[in-house]
Amino acid sequence: MRLFYAIFLPEEVKRALVEAQERVARYKGWKEVVPHQLHLTLLFLGERPEEDLEDLLALGHRLGRLHPPFTARIRGTGYFPNEGTPRVWFAKAEGEGFAPLAEGLREGVRELLGEEALLAGGDKPFKPHITLARRKAPAPRVPPVVFGVEWPVTEFALVRSELKPKGPVYTILEKFPLRGDHGREQEESTGEHPKDH
Ligand code: 2AM
Repeated sequence: MRLFYAIFLPEEVKRALVEAQERVARYKGWKEVVPHQLHLTLLFLGERPEEDLEDLLALGHRLGRLHPPFTARIRGTGYFPNEGTPRVWFAKAEGEGFAPLAEGLREGVRELLGEEALLAGGDKPFKPHITLARRKAPAPRVPPVVFGVEWPVTEFALVRSELKPKGPVYTILEKFPLRGDHGREQEESTGEHPKDH
């Protein structure tokens, strides 16, 4: 099954993004991501055998215990690739928790499933973004949108993607609450920093 770890968005954030999507709605070449599928990918795993699922779910829960909730913001929009013909129009996200979580997932997947499991996601550096629309046929770039939305990120998910003729269908397999309490008991009893464990 085709899998990825992602963060889904609260209603008010989706509303702001849907409003922005109106900019591309008039161009047939741009295909907007439907509101309930708007998400931020932490790690794309591609096709994985079902037997990997147990490890991937356990990893999600372990990292949820390790990483605390954090505030995320959306500021503006951009294109992949930035130069030439764009393939994707996205909203840029910022938040101190994205990179550690994405890096933790990479490390965890590497340990559990080997380096090969990271190949599907490519070797580009992690750039937290929410894809707003994909370009399927010639269509122009649209002017940038400036956002002022922020929200608390309190969980992430392991998601299954099924590629259908009308577009991908995502199913959340499991959600992992961000608790950031791993090692706190030891910290309290030994005075050590939880990151040392
Ligand atoms: P994108 O939105 O920038 O296309 C599910 O496909 C999610 O995984 C999408 O958010 C997609 O990012 C991301 N992803 C990352 N690498 C991918 C890849 N090589 N193929 C498909 N999706 C990928």
